[in-house]
Amino acid sequence: MESAAILSLAITGASGAGVARVLLAMLERDPRVAHVDLVASPHGLRVAREELDLPEGTLDQLAHRLLGRAPGKTEVHDDRDIGANIASGSYPSRGMIVAPCSMGTCAGIAHGLADSLIKRAADVCLKERRPLVLAVRETPLNRIHLRNLLEASEAGATIFPLMPAFYDGALTAEAMTAQFAARLLEHVGLPQPSVFQWQGRRPRQA
Ligand SMILES: Cc1cc2nc3c(=O)[nH]c(=O)nc-3n(C[C@H](O)[C@H](O)[C@H](O)COP(=O)(O)O)c2cc1C
Repeated sequence: MESAAILSLAITGASGAGVARVLLAMLERDPRVAHVDLVASPHGLRVAREELDLPEGTLDQLAHRLLGRAPGKTEVHDDRDIGANIASGSYPSRGMIVAPCSMGTCAGIAHGLADSLIKRAADVCLKERRPLVLAVRETPLNRIHLRNLLEASEAGATIFPLMPAFYDGALTAEAMTAQFAARLLEHVGLPQPSVFQWQGRRPRQA
C-alpha cells in the first residue's frame, strides 16, 4: 500500500485566500495525508489578512489562524527560507498546490526563477516530475499572463484557474469554494467523494 502523502500548499498574493483555507482544512482531515508543508509569500500573507480578516500573529501561527484551531500535521515555512525541506528534490513530497497563485508567481515559476521558497519548491516539482497545480487568478488576462500560463503548462504544471463551476447546483460562495477545492485535490492524487459528477442534467434544487 502507498504510504501517506506529504504535500505542499503555497499561498501567494492573488485574490482567493479562502480557497487556501478550505484546502488546508481538507488536507488536515484527510487520513491519506501525513504532512502538509505550508508556505505563504509576503504578498500572500497581506492579501489573506485582507480577505480573511486573520487575527494578528506570527508566521508560525499561520496554520492555526487559517484553521481556527491548532493544526495536526501542518508545518509552516518562511518564503525566504530557501533551505527548507521542500526546496530539495530529496525530500519525499508528493506534489504541490499553489492556491491562490498570482500572475507574478506564475511568471517566476514559468521562467524557473526559484528565488523564493515557493518558486524553488515549484521548480523542484517540475524537475522531479511531481504534480504541481497552479490555481491562478487574475482577470482579464494580458498576453504576458497567457504566455506564462502556456510556459508553465508545457513545463508540466497543471493550470487550474480559480474559477468556480456554475453547473453543479452549488449556490453559495462556500459551496462553490468547497467544490473547487475538492476538484483541485483530485489533481494531486486525492480523489474526493464529495466531488459533483455530471449525470447528463443539472441537479434540481431542494
Ligand atoms: C487585495 C489584492 C488583491 C490582489 N489580487 C491579485 C490577483 O487576483 N491576481 C494577481 O495576479 N495579483 C493580485 N494582486 C497583486 C499581487 O499581490 C502582486 O502582484 C504581488 O507582487 C504578487 O506577489 P507574490 O506572487 O510573491 O505573492 C493583488 C493584490 C492585492 C493587494
